[in-house]
Amino acid sequence: MAPPPPEFELDSSLGDDLARVAQQLSAAGHVVALTGAGLSVESGIPPFRGPGGLWTKYGEPPMDGYRRFLEDPAAAWRERLSPRAEWALALRDTLAAAEPNAGHRALAEFERIGLLGCVITQNIDDLHAQAGSSNLLEIHGNHRLLRCLECVRRFEPDAIAIDPDDLPPRCPDCGGPVKGDTVQFGEPIPPDVLRRCYAEVERSDCMLVIGTSATVYPAADFPMEVLRRGGCVIEINPTDTDFTASATESLRGPAGALLSRLLDLSKSEAGAAA
Ligand code: APR
Repeated sequence: MAPPPPEFELDSSLGDDLARVAQQLSAAGHVVALTGAGLSVESGIPPFRGPGGLWTKYGEPPMDGYRRFLEDPAAAWRERLSPRAEWALALRDTLAAAEPNAGHRALAEFERIGLLGCVITQNIDDLHAQAGSSNLLEIHGNHRLLRCLECVRRFEPDAIAIDPDDLPPRCPDCGGPVKGDTVQFGEPIPPDVLRRCYAEVERSDCMLVIGTSATVYPAADFPMEVLRRGGCVIEINPTDTDFTASATESLRGPAGALLSRLLDLSKSEAGAAA
């Protein structure tokens, strides 16, 4: 298990910003959270970019993973079953050891008390699901699950027998080739998830943008769409991002500590209102 993050010193000005954001959240009609790798840093999973990022350390992987899967799915499966790329091994090991942190738990609690309508995550780490988020859209897939390329049905890993001499495995429903649910570079976002993401974004008048560099599309367009429609967008990130200048509010600090504080404030606000 990852070591607990160092205690985050909350400076006074942030206290006022947090109080204002808590009011915005309770005044909003439909709040959606868009999360990225930064939310899982406190669970021991490195981000992709910036200091300590996987791509910073190992270089960006080839952008044609999906094309290579389509050309030779058996070879892609052999790579999946015993990865050779250093970044893939590093990611696999940290995913296996990771557990939800205070940030994941706070978002699940925000949903439970009715202040958050949906979580759209770019993370494949399954930690939102483990923390109890229910209206959860995993736009880049889930590393644990498998997916049929033809009927787009998803499967728990033990629901499909993997025979290393007969790859790729086939969908028990339609016979189509099955791959990992993780969306590879060059792969279109599965239409069922993308449709639901846009439906949530269109309903949203307030979006939390947490732990993302907001550089990968289509997810990076979601906060812009909320702003275009007159909604507010609150960024939570220890550093500035490409999106900061557009954000309605930008809170500096680690997601775990800030979301926990925001939840406490929102609960006392709701309590005061009750
Ligand atoms: N709390 C909040 N944010 C944090 C924390 C933290 N404790 N630590 C780092 N961050 C921020 C960084 O400052 C950075 O802005 O998280 C962000 C992580 O950005 P990226 O590494 O670019 O991750 P993400 O935005 O999720 O990447 C999008 O790119 O490589 C693809 O498919 C991959 O889903 C991924 C997509």
